[in-house]
Amino acid sequence: MTPWLETVVVALWTMLPAYVPNNAAVLSGGGRPIDAGRTLNGRRLLGDGKTWRGTAVGTGVGVALALVLDAAAPAVGDALGVPLPSFPLPAAVGLALGAMLGDIGASFLKRRLGRERGAAVPGLDQLDFVVGALLLAALLAPQWVAATFTPPRLLVVVVATPVLHVVTNVGAYLLGLKNEPW
Ligand code: CTP
Ligand code: MG
Repeated sequence: MTPWLETVVVALWTMLPAYVPNNAAVLSGGGRPIDAGRTLNGRRLLGDGKTWRGTAVGTGVGVALALVLDAAAPAVGDALGVPLPSFPLPAAVGLALGAMLGDIGASFLKRRLGRERGAAVPGLDQLDFVVGALLLAALLAPQWVAATFTPPRLLVVVVATPVLHVVTNVGAYLLGLKNEPW
C-alpha cells in the first residue's frame, strides 16, 4: 500500500467510532427531546431533533463499534498490510460521545442563528461531530490522540469527512431514513 493510501485507511478506521453515532441516532431517534421543549429568546434550545434516545443509542453504538474494531484490527491490519490503531475505552467514549455532543452543540448554534430544525448549515453540519469527537477524545485520552492523529491523518479526516457525510446522508435520504439529504 502506498504511504498516502495507508494514511487514508488508518485515518478513516480511527474515525469510525465517531462516524457511526450520528447515523445510529437517525435510526433510533425519537422520544423526549433533550431540551424538554425549553426555549431561549423564543427559540428552542436544541429542538426536537436532539433526543435522549438518539444520543444514548448513538454513543453506545459508537463505543461498541470501537470494541469490534479492536477485535478485528489484527486480522484486518494483517490482510491490508497496515498496522491499525486500537481504541482504549476513554478514546472510544471520547470519539463516540464527542461526536454526539458536537452535533448537539451545532444544533444549539443553529437555533441561536434562527435556523429551524432540519435547516442545513454547510460546513457546520459536516464537521461539527469531527470537532466534538476530537476535542472530547483529546480530553479523555490526550496521549492516544497525540500519537494517533498525526498531522497527515488529521488532514485526511478534515478533507474526507465532509465528503463521506454528504454521501451517507444523501443515501439515508434516498432510502427514506432521513427527512433531509444533509
Ligand atoms: N437524532 C436524535 N438525537 C441526536 C441526534 C439525532 O434523536 N442527538 C435523530 C433525530 O430524529 C433527528 C435525526 O436523528 O431528527 C437527524 O439528525 P440531525 O440531522 O442531526 O437533526 P435535525 O433533525 O436535522 O435537527 P438539527 O437542525 O437540530 O440538526
Ligand atoms: Mg440535520
